[in-house]
Formats: sequence, structure tokens, C-alpha cells
Amino acid sequence: MMHVCNTLDEWRQRRRALSGKSIGFVPTMGALHEGHASLVKRCRAENEVVIVSIFVNPTQFNDPDDLDKYPRTIENDLTILRHLGTDEVIVPSAAELYPNGYLFKMEAPGLTNIMEGAHRPGFFEGVMTVVLKLLNLASPDRAYFGEKDYQQMKIITAMVADLFIPTEIIACPTVRESSGLAMSSRNMRLSPAGRQQAAEIRRALSSPNAREILEAAGFAVDYVEEHWDRRLAAVFVEGIRLIDNVPLAGENKG
Ligand code: PAJ
Repeated sequence: MMHVCNTLDEWRQRRRALSGKSIGFVPTMGALHEGHASLVKRCRAENEVVIVSIFVNPTQFNDPDDLDKYPRTIENDLTILRHLGTDEVIVPSAAELYPNGYLFKMEAPGLTNIMEGAHRPGFFEGVMTVVLKLLNLASPDRAYFGEKDYQQMKIITAMVADLFIPTEIIACPTVRESSGLAMSSRNMRLSPAGRQQAAEIRRALSSPNAREILEAAGFAVDYVEEHWDRRLAAVFVEGIRLIDNVPLAGENKG
């Protein structure tokens, strides 16, 4: 039976009863799709207990409109998680997760001064802060992050190592639609035509001329950069910001 906790008091009590078992954790912002499901499946396969959190974290949104428009599909999310064999779901409130507002903030300027960090002020500070809080609450042996958000995965891996957090960070490959479009909760805001256009991002990224190809295809390009042997980009489609990345070696994978 899957158990859902809405308060941290209840969660701490549940967590105490799990000690001694191997624990896997998948933090999410909900609006779950096959990409999230792949993380939960891997977590299910590798741990005795599977914990998933659903929390639309306000501190990682620099645009209040983006926060408002972020899809919220909690009932559907819980159905998906039940089917995946999740044991524990934590759905905390912002008031409980930030009891003193945004009093403490994680910073890593040397890692957040490029790409998503440069283009979305405060984004990674919010992500690092909430992930640190969630890791402290879940206390998992392993936590699962998607390569779809590659820079996020790298920063969390570095944070956990630097702060001696006893959790192993597991990176999971990007799940795509058959069109090649990387699955994202934001995709549901695209029109059918926008979805078709967005399917070009993956193809364009396999070329060294990705920026030119994307611009010629009508995308507003935020950045195209190469790091960690990958080509990473953020572009706008119908005003929706989408990110993707592919490995430079063996350019038809990823
Ligand atoms: P969210 O966007 O909900 O993503 C939760 C996890 O699912 C992240 O690790 C993300 O990389 C992974 N994911 C999303 N789409 C994926 C796809 N197509 N293939 C593989 N994995 C995918 O990322 C966040 O939430 C937040 O920043 C969070 C870490 C929860 C902190 O608030």
C-alpha cells in the first residue's frame, strides 16, 4: 500500500519505521510523465523502499507567471506512482518546507554561472536548497536524477560530495517521445504544431551547427554550449522554454 504524507511530522514518524532498509528517493515537481516514471522504476529495482516527493518549489522559479502556470496534476501523479509500486510519497507544503521563508540559501557560483544558472537567476540556488532539505528529510541511500536536466544532475552530484551527504546520486538517461522530443512537464503547454517544431531540437543538437539550425527553424535560442562531452541547449517554442542535451560521441544516442 502506497502511503502519502502531507505533513512533515507524519513523514518523520514514517521515516523512523523504515530504518534498516535500503532506501531510494526520487524528488519531483509532479506533472509526472514517462521520464519521471523511468527514475521511479530504476529506484524500485534497486531499493527495498521507494520514496517520491512532489513539491513545486517556489524558490527555483524566477518568474512568478512560470510558477503559476506550472502544471499540477496531483491525483493523476498519485495514480501513476501507485502503479509503479511506490511506497512513500511526500507532498509537503511550502510553509512547512520553508518554515522561516527563504532564510538559508545554497550557493555555488563556480557551477551556476553558466547555462541554466546564467539564464535563470536564482534557479540553481533554489534547486540546491530544496534538494538539500529533501535529502535531509528522506535520508536515502540513493537518489535518482534525470540527464534531461544535465547541469542540475552535475551540480547535485557535486553538492552531495562536497557536503559529505551519505546519498549516492544516480543519473538516469533522458526519456524521449518517439518524435525525439525529450519528455517534459512543460510539453503539455505546447500546441500540436509547437510539439512538432520542438521535435527538431534533438535532431539539431546532433550537429556542430546546432545554433544556426535551430535559429533557421524559427527557435529563439537561449544558449547552445558544450560541456562534459555533451551539447546542451535551451530554446523557446511558443514562449515555452525547453532544454535538451545529447552526448557528442555517438551523436545518435542520448
Ligand atoms: P522535475 O522537473 O519534476 O524533474 C524531476 C526529475 O525527473 C529530475 O531529476 C529530472 O531530470 C527528471 N526528468 C524529467 N524529465 C525527464 C526525462 N525526459 N527523462 C529522464 N528524466 C527526466 O527537476 C526537478 O523536478 C526539480 O528541479 C527538483 C530536482 C525536483 C527540485 O525541485
